Amino acid sequence: MADRLETTAEPVTVPVNLGERSYDIVIGRDVLTGAGARIATLMPGARLAVITDETVARTHLPALSASLKAAGLEHTVITVPPGEQTKCYAQFERLCDEVLAARLERGDAVLAFGGGVVGDLAGFVSASVRRGMTFIQMPTTLLSQVDSSVGGKTGINSRHGKNLIGAFHQPALVLADTAILDTLSDREFRAGYAEVVKYGLLGDADFFEWLDLNWKGLFDGTSAREEAVARSCAAKAAVVGADERESGQRALLNLGHTFGHALESAVEYDGTRLVHGEGVSIGMMLAHEFSARLGLLPQADVERVEAHLIKVGLPVRMQQIPGQLPPAETLLDSIAQDKKVSRGALTFILTRGIGQAFVEKGVDPATVLEFLKEKLQR
Ligand SMILES: NC(=O)c1ccc[n+]([C@@H]2O[C@H](COP(=O)([O-])OP(=O)(O)OC[C@H]3O[C@@H](n4cnc5c(N)ncnc54)[C@H](O)[C@@H]3O)[C@@H](O)[C@H]2O)c1
Repeated sequence: MADRLETTAEPVTVPVNLGERSYDIVIGRDVLTGAGARIATLMPGARLAVITDETVARTHLPALSASLKAAGLEHTVITVPPGEQTKCYAQFERLCDEVLAARLERGDAVLAFGGGVVGDLAGFVSASVRRGMTFIQMPTTLLSQVDSSVGGKTGINSRHGKNLIGAFHQPALVLADTAILDTLSDREFRAGYAEVVKYGLLGDADFFEWLDLNWKGLFDGTSAREEAVARSCAAKAAVVGADERESGQRALLNLGHTFGHALESAVEYDGTRLVHGEGVSIGMMLAHEFSARLGLLPQADVERVEAHLIKVGLPVRMQQIPGQLPPAETLLDSIAQDKKVSRGALTFILTRGIGQAFVEKGVDPATVLEFLKEKLQR
């Protein structure tokens, strides 16, 4: 990423209000340096299992270890390979055994230091070992800072689909160092941005406008980055606070994900062809176009969304995914296999305008099939 243009002062704290499971998200440049002190204040004398991936370990682990040591926190480090394939039974089993072998107790903590893959996997380990250990998230990708580290969804993939095995297990603290994002590849940063703009599109037209004006600063690392991460986390915290276990409105956070997951599955999670956020970007575009097709959304809004996504360099069409895609029938099958299906009718997140998404439970599969066929042809 480009050099930082401004400095920001104190970290911003966004609270997640969930009664006795409430916690803080601390956001700012250099939060990493003070991580040990914050954790030691929260759980004095605790021992930690730091779970990270090889890429993050290479660049950022020395700084985290130094901070933990300086605060007198004993810790063991467990490293996994980077990539979606790591969210699997074999790694889950290995990590649970390593945490037990390190003799960590229930009052000790698992600390996830990485992107959404590490966070989801380490979170599920912390939910499972000794029936639940304390969990701390230190997200290192834009996607994980604005989305996956907040809200307590943890899990791994099954051969039947993504994230089908897991648990709700809230972290006790989220520490998001925005300077750490400087080492992310442009592609990963941009993919994470899809989840940022999602919050504007689903419920906050002012945030969308703000992003349309300020997205460049976010990418370049001005204070717009902290503001965007904080606003995104506040939006997610509000939704999660109202519906922790997704019995209703939390499903709004899936805007673009039903189509997006089908595309990820279509490329067999091959990150060289499509990463999660890119699937979400194309999925959000499809959700807006589908809403317009159903007569719910003005075409002008479709065009504004498309113009913004293109401006930031995100893909908006299925044809932009390299290689062959399966036919519409296969995409529909994988949509039906998603968790958002109930008694044959499909649940989609549709929209009536920028910032006006809603959950629609009775979508007819035949209409979706026809729409997908047409979109695959153009
Ligand atoms: N639990 C939830 O609520 C939730 C929400 C959204 C997504 N997810 C999950 O999140 C996962 C995707 O997360 P992701 O996009 O963070 O992917 P990721 O964890 O695979 O990270 C992407 C890549 O960036 C590298 N990386 C991480 N931090 C880095 C840094 N600071 N500098 C350089 N490289 C770095 C990683 O090694 C990896 O290669 C998916 O598995 C998805 O299902 C979960």
